[in-house]
Amino acid sequence: MPLKTLPPTGTETADALIQLLNGRGTGDYIGEHISQLEHSLQCAHSAKRSGSDDELILAALLHDIGQFLPIEEARDVQMLMEGEGSVGRVGHEMIGEEYLKNLGFGEKVWKLVGSHVAAKRYLTAIDTSYYDGLSEASKQSLKFQGGPFQGEELEQFMRHPLSEDMVKLRKWDDRAKVVGIEGSTPRVEVYRDMMVKHLEKE
Ligand SMILES: [Fe+2]
Repeated sequence: MPLKTLPPTGTETADALIQLLNGRGTGDYIGEHISQLEHSLQCAHSAKRSGSDDELILAALLHDIGQFLPIEEARDVQMLMEGEGSVGRVGHEMIGEEYLKNLGFGEKVWKLVGSHVAAKRYLTAIDTSYYDGLSEASKQSLKFQGGPFQGEELEQFMRHPLSEDMVKLRKWDDRAKVVGIEGSTPRVEVYRDMMVKHLEKE
């Protein structure tokens, strides 16, 4: 069997992801004043500082991976989801979830990545001060993401076994927009061993 048909190792996957984050992460973060990469790194660093487990830290680092994918690759992931019967509008969080699932990440990681919009819809439903504190860009995107949860959707979110971690991730995501601290935020390579360990365990 030719080598290239073998599934990538954990190390290869981790290195490819690091390259993707570093290479495509310097573009503007839509509506914010820092890069997408810096945003992801600040989010991961908050998770790490709070003593979270590896899955939650990796989810924080990779929560916006759907935004980093080259357009053709995002389209491929979307087609895969359509093939699996996924219906409705597919946001970057769903693309990220599917992408990480296919790379061999554990269920907790991809479920958390897929939930970060749901957590925002939950928090805006239960806390008006949370909504008031959102950036303008985030308030705008909420409209397209379905608005605050109501009724059964809200109940369902609250019953989810990962809902606490989903809310934590969302709050770090919201705060990971600090301008001018690029020099002190740990770089993506810091998470390489964690990623490899996680991928090789799965
Ligand atoms: Fe984000």
